[in-house]
Order: sequence, then C-alpha cells, then structure tokens
Amino acid sequence: MLIIDNVSKQYGEVNVLDGVSTKISEGTFAAIRGASGSGKSTLLMICAGLMNCDGGKVVINDTEIAALGPQECNTFRSATLGFVFQRFHLVPYLSVADNIRLVSLNQKDGREKDKDRVEELLGKFGLSHRAGHIPGKLSVGEQQRCALARALFNRPQLILADEPAGNLDPDNAALVLDTFREFTDDGGTVLMVTHDPQAAERADETWMLESSSQLCKMQTTA
Ligand SMILES: Nc1ncnc2c1ncn2[C@@H]1O[C@H](COP(=O)(O)OP(=O)(O)O)[C@@H](O)[C@H]1O
Ligand SMILES: [Mg+2]
Repeated sequence: MLIIDNVSKQYGEVNVLDGVSTKISEGTFAAIRGASGSGKSTLLMICAGLMNCDGGKVVINDTEIAALGPQECNTFRSATLGFVFQRFHLVPYLSVADNIRLVSLNQKDGREKDKDRVEELLGKFGLSHRAGHIPGKLSVGEQQRCALARALFNRPQLILADEPAGNLDPDNAALVLDTFREFTDDGGTVLMVTHDPQAAERADETWMLESSSQLCKMQTTA
C-alpha cells in the first residue's frame, strides 16, 4: 500500500533523512515517532508528493508519486490521500462546509452533488451548527475536526497525519485517534507522525525515526 524505499533528503548541507525505508500495509494504523527535528514532517510531505526527496522513492498503490507530473500528482493526491496538518491549514476565508469539500470546490456541479457528504461529515464531527462559519470563529478542537472531515471527504485510501492531536485537549485528541481507528477498521490506511508516545500507543504498529537513520520497527499490537 505505502512503500517508503531508501528515502533521503538534505536541506543544504544537512542530511535530514538518510535512507529511510518502511512498508505500511493496507488497513493498518501506523505511527512514526521521533524527537522534534528528526524529520517527521519532511518524510510525510515527501509521502504526499508535496516535497521531492533527493534519493529513493515513495510508492502508493503501485504509483511512484515523484514520477507524476504536477497535474497528475494533484489528481492522484485528491483521489487517494487525505492529509491532516498539525496546524490544520484551513482556508481562512472559506466556510467550514466549503473547507470540507475543498477538493471538489472547482468542479462545476460540485456543490449540489456533494451536499449529502458534507452534511454527513458535519454531523459526524459535531459541526452542523458551524457549517457557515469561517475557521477563525471556531475553537481549536472544532478546527481540527473540520480538517479531519476535509481529509475524509473524498473517501481516500490513505490518511497522512502530522501530529494531528498535538494541539488538542484530551477529548478532541481521543476523537482524532478514534476516527483513525474506525477508518482503518473499514480498510483504510493511516500513517501518523507524532512525538507523543501516548498517541502512538493507539496505533497497530509504531516506528521510530532516529535522526539520519533507518526507520526501525518498535512494536506492533496486531
Ligand atoms: N525548509 C527547510 N530548510 C532548512 N531546514 C529545514 C527545513 N525544514 C525543516 N528543516 C530542518 O530539518 C529538520 C527536520 O525538520 P522536520 O521534518 O520539520 O522535523 P520534525 O517534524 O520531526 O520536527 C529540522 O532540523 C529542521 O530545522
Ligand atoms: Mg513536524
């Protein structure tokens, strides 16, 4: 499903990732732990095709993401991936409902076609009364729930999540992790990076990213 094969990345003279490899199979909730600065966000951006690596490759469902052109990459990403950012990255001038259906916002018949899906997700994440508000009016927990709904909107196969519970209170943090569990129970795959051992404990398998080294498998509860 997701293969990270000997990926390396340098920022100038600094080796951030130095031959990182792992394989995450379908239906697995995997976590990568690592200290701040160990390259977790960099690795996740490379997995999403949002950043190029300097060596190695990432393969998602038999597609090497770096081999795609920009337009193909966008199409592949919106069909296959959901990304949850640590700082949410909601579009500040769009309503909660429009943020959730962001991937279909440019489609001609999008608004009508997606109405039911948006409403389903608003309900699921307790945001129905917030549908018309802009993100700036929401609490932090509501913003992350909106970001989760956006990531799930297109029914992706893979969710990539960067410290998704890092800024949240315990209830909202649990909701994020419960959502990932439910998603993988339904056959989806999650790769979450986090510095938080407690969050990682909820995953089926945990990997440790040491600075400039291999990703080594720590434990599996499967
Ligand atoms: N655009 C950049 N240019 C130069 N150095 C960067 C850049 N982005 C990240 N870094 C450095 O690369 C290292 C890994 O960063 P990052 O992937 O954000 O780690 P993590 O998410 O594990 O905290 C850090 O030392 C960081 O300062
Ligand atoms: Mg980070």
